[in-house]
Amino acid sequence: MTRHLLSSADLSRTEVLDILATAESMHDLQRREVKKVPTLRGRTVINFFFEDSTRTRSSFEIAGKWMSADTINLSAKGSSTSKGESLRDTAMTIDAMAVDALVIRHNASGACHQVAQWVRCSVINAGDGTHEHPTQALLDAYTLRSRLGDLDGKHVVIVGDLTHSRVFRSNVITLKTLGARVTVVAPPTLMPSGIAGWSATDGFATSWDLDAVLDGEDPVDAVMMLRVQRERMSGGYFPTAREYTVGYGLTRDRLDRLVARNPDVLILHPGPMNRGLEIAAEAADSARSVVLDQVSAGVAVRMAVLYHLLAGNDDAPREPAELETSTTGASAPSAPTQPEGVAR
Ligand code: CP
Repeated sequence: MTRHLLSSADLSRTEVLDILATAESMHDLQRREVKKVPTLRGRTVINFFFEDSTRTRSSFEIAGKWMSADTINLSAKGSSTSKGESLRDTAMTIDAMAVDALVIRHNASGACHQVAQWVRCSVINAGDGTHEHPTQALLDAYTLRSRLGDLDGKHVVIVGDLTHSRVFRSNVITLKTLGARVTVVAPPTLMPSGIAGWSATDGFATSWDLDAVLDGEDPVDAVMMLRVQRERMSGGYFPTAREYTVGYGLTRDRLDRLVARNPDVLILHPGPMNRGLEIAAEAADSARSVVLDQVSAGVAVRMAVLYHLLAGNDDAPREPAELETSTTGASAPSAPTQPEGVAR
């Protein structure tokens, strides 16, 4: 694996599968009473979020802490960014403190790629503008595989505000890497420009007609609803919220039709959800919803990414089991280690 995780395209199929296999060990750890292992003892991870986040920021923080890394959270407000410091100066300042990884969320597409050119530490893209969100795609793949098994040939439909969605961009890459068939659905105003060429190159289908896709000949294994990102919208992309829901929302009626055709269909949403707009409460809370599974997988997958970048990234990749007895440096995520000073 490369030093950074900036794009889902950075990861080969083998690397994705390696990370997901490691995440399974991490998920086992997550279910234990005492969750801490010494895997990243002595490593420092800075979570720098220039944009708001609940899931990604807290799961990266938990992931680092459970692996005994020193984890520090920074946000634009409260850092010297608010005094006008440039992204380059901020990144180089943090890097000069000899940190090991910088997890960055930024509202500018490409910001993480820029930072990676200025620093020595590993950079992890935690969502950059409308560009990519590679760890979200990994946790989505983890969630899908935990229910559907191998994704080769599985049909995943991604619906909603594609224009502003980094989740969609990373997911089409990772799902293709894992052999899934993807159809993306959006109103014409929320279809990214140039998508015709992109979909032809990357082999995914596009549609403006959600009902035609859901009721079509190709059975749907999973539907991923995307958030309508009103904070990124400067104009009128759809006439009213009601009309958006009628055309593109996962309503109770659409859920019932999906389940009637495939009782095992999965409903995903990266969150945060606009209930009643892109997804009805009945769908978000239904037995087919795996929204909270996605959140849970987020911790395990981010532990796995930190592990592969900071502890498992050498010329001869080691199995976690080979590392599990060391307590002085990098050690195994799978070890049922009783951390020092923590009583059961
Ligand atoms: N899915 C996601 O990125 O959520 P947050 O914005 O809460 O991190």
